[in-house]
Amino acid sequence: MQLVKRIKVAGIVGVVILAVSLLFAFAPAPQKKNRVVPPDAAKEKNPMPNDATSFAAGKNIYNLKCTSCHGKKGKGDGPKSAEFDDKPQDFTAAEFKKQSDGELCWKITMGNTTMPCFKHQMTKDQRWQVITYLRKL
Ligand code: HEC
Repeated sequence: MQLVKRIKVAGIVGVVILAVSLLFAFAPAPQKKNRVVPPDAAKEKNPMPNDATSFAAGKNIYNLKCTSCHGKKGKGDGPKSAEFDDKPQDFTAAEFKKQSDGELCWKITMGNTTMPCFKHQMTKDQRWQVITYLRKL
């Protein structure tokens, strides 16, 4: 009797697992999470000097941590970009450039569905320096 009960429970668990996996199989591809940058963060000014030192530091960080997805020239065509549903933006596009430094810093800090969160991987100064570099791409 005990055994029959166990088989029944196993059967129910199996059906539930199957149903859940089917649900995921047919769920639409994950949508780009809409990010609303908090107004205070968007207003933040880049405190790093806009000079060759910041540019060189930013370039170094960019080449190390960003090119795999965003591409060497920031066109969004890095070798890993083909793996994702949400494509990395083209940093040379006017649409991208019209954002404030504060908005970009917040996005780099927080990340998104595919875009990694760099809050703990980079200091805030480094995030501002990489923005100095992005501006010149
Ligand atoms: C694993 C791949 C990956 C890496 C590595 C990566 N990104 Fe991204 N990034 C993305 C994707 C995909 C998006 C587009 C989705 C989105 O808007 O978050 C994105 C979006 C962004 C945006 C927002 C653009 C906009 O107009 O909203 C910024 C800024 C950005 N990345 C900067 C960086 C910087 C700087 C680095 C390196 C420190 C970096 N990313 C590393 C994948 C990546």
